[in-house]
Amino acid sequence: MSNAFVSQLVVQSPEFATNAAAMRRQVELLQGRLDEAKAGGGAAAVATQRARQKLLVRERLALLLDPQTPFLELSALAAYGRHPSPVPGAGVVSGIGRVAGRECMVVANDPTVKGGTYFPESIKKHLRAQAIARQNRLPCVYLVDSGGIFLPLQAQTFADQEHFGKIFANQAQMSAMGIAQIAVVLGMCTAGGAYVPAMADENIIVRGNGTIYLAGPPLVRAATGEEVSAQDLGGADMHAERSGVVDHVADDEAHALRLAREVVGRLGGCKRTTLAVTPPEAPLYPAEELYGLVPADPRQPYDVREILARLLDGSRFSPFKAAYGPNLVCAFGRLHGYPVGVLANNGVLFGACGQKGAHFVQLCEQRGVPLIFLQNITGFMVGRAEEEAGITKDGAKMVQAVATATVPKLTVMLGASHGAGNYAMCGRAFGPRFLFAWPNAKVSVMGAEQAAQVLLQLKEAQRQGAGAPPLTAAEQQAIRAPVLKQYASQSDATFASAQLWDDGIIDPAQTRQTLALALSACLNAPTRVEPAPGAPAAPVFRF
Ligand code: COA
Repeated sequence: MSNAFVSQLVVQSPEFATNAAAMRRQVELLQGRLDEAKAGGGAAAVATQRARQKLLVRERLALLLDPQTPFLELSALAAYGRHPSPVPGAGVVSGIGRVAGRECMVVANDPTVKGGTYFPESIKKHLRAQAIARQNRLPCVYLVDSGGIFLPLQAQTFADQEHFGKIFANQAQMSAMGIAQIAVVLGMCTAGGAYVPAMADENIIVRGNGTIYLAGPPLVRAATGEEVSAQDLGGADMHAERSGVVDHVADDEAHALRLAREVVGRLGGCKRTTLAVTPPEAPLYPAEELYGLVPADPRQPYDVREILARLLDGSRFSPFKAAYGPNLVCAFGRLHGYPVGVLANNGVLFGACGQKGAHFVQLCEQRGVPLIFLQNITGFMVGRAEEEAGITKDGAKMVQAVATATVPKLTVMLGASHGAGNYAMCGRAFGPRFLFAWPNAKVSVMGAEQAAQVLLQLKEAQRQGAGAPPLTAAEQQAIRAPVLKQYASQSDATFASAQLWDDGIIDPAQTRQTLALALSACLNAPTRVEPAPGAPAAPVFRF
């Protein structure tokens, strides 16, 4: 067993206090935004729900999920600041929770947000939840209460490949894969909203409040002149007795959610894992020390092993190739008892880091060990010597290994995430099963200052070529200032999360718990895709 890491962090130092205060401010800001998202669509919409004897979305979740069990909420800041008026949580709550002992993906419309209709980010959030369910073989429970597409934004939501229709395609495909699709109809479900229960394997509807129809009474009147009430057109009894669209009728929401728990309880087939899991062991150092550990100035370096010591069991880990390419820390350890291979940045990546990273990822793939990527990376080293040494191909090796690894990959953005560093360290495009960011994370193709400098130099070179005099200081400033401003806002963690470039921003002190829940969810699917018998398989290459 490896020795515990001995922390060098001086918690009484002024730097620690400054850093901790800066991180605490960011966490408070995050908490404020999360609270806003949780509050839903406002007092009037809440009152309407109450008047109809309907529960609020989080009350529904509380009745669906096993008491006193954690809920790993995803994409909570989706759509934050993206529309003229707020669309809290993009009008849908998604996350992984335990239902009748089984980890499930829950996707629940929030009818207080514009009738639970789908904005572009609502669709992205719903699709992301389904992608996680598919990868990790999690049964899906949809709590449906939605008017379908948010009609003014139909051009961004209806017809493209990753638009509304994909939700239903996913339902059919997951059902075919044996991933249960269960829907509970709790309100008026019109058009697209009606297809979620219609495409489910098994569904439940609440008598009185639940309706399912392709077009509501006003549209039917306009289209055919027929006068019909909502209940006669698509109520529980009609669907249960005549159309056969629903399977179970509930007297009220509590009953419906109880029935949903029973349906999940009958699914059987709990997760089986070949991973050698041990009892969890707390790290030796408190998670709150992460606040003071990370420099308030993102340009200041720090030893990322101090972070590992606050995430991994017993603060123990075994470094791999510690002295080779040391700017990439690769280590074996355990998180909440799950064996993991960690890749963490300790400075800019050199060619040796790329070779070592590729080697380590392949080792973990061969052994079926989940990978955790801790990103704080400005990119790969630039310059003539590095290019001559082949840094591009060394970086590409790591990117290839990461892209093709089938073990669960989990990424946390601890700070900077720029350039090919984002790719090699399992950014969104490389299929991490989960990707979380700290509130101080900055995601962009390069840093603001570098981007401003590049654009300035291009302009200077153009002018030189045309025989024009160099830019004056004021002209330089006129080029730099808007780039710096744009990068400052567009590399912000909330900007990224609002567009679902991640699965959520987390309080650094919650990182271990979040990763543990994510790893637990991953184990519902095989840890590694085994090559077919006789198919060519690659050995672990030593580069
Ligand atoms: N697109 C855009 N906005 C919509 C909408 C839609 N599909 N459905 C509802 N809204 C808006 C309403 O205009 C209202 O906005 P406001 O708060 O700014 O006034 C808000 O959402 C709430 O709608 P309201 O009708 O007041 O609430 P409700 O709880 O009584 O009814 C619905 C909710 C969804 C059942 C009902 O609005 C409805 O049937 N909508 C039309 C659904 C439809 O035809 N969809 C087809 C698209 S696939």
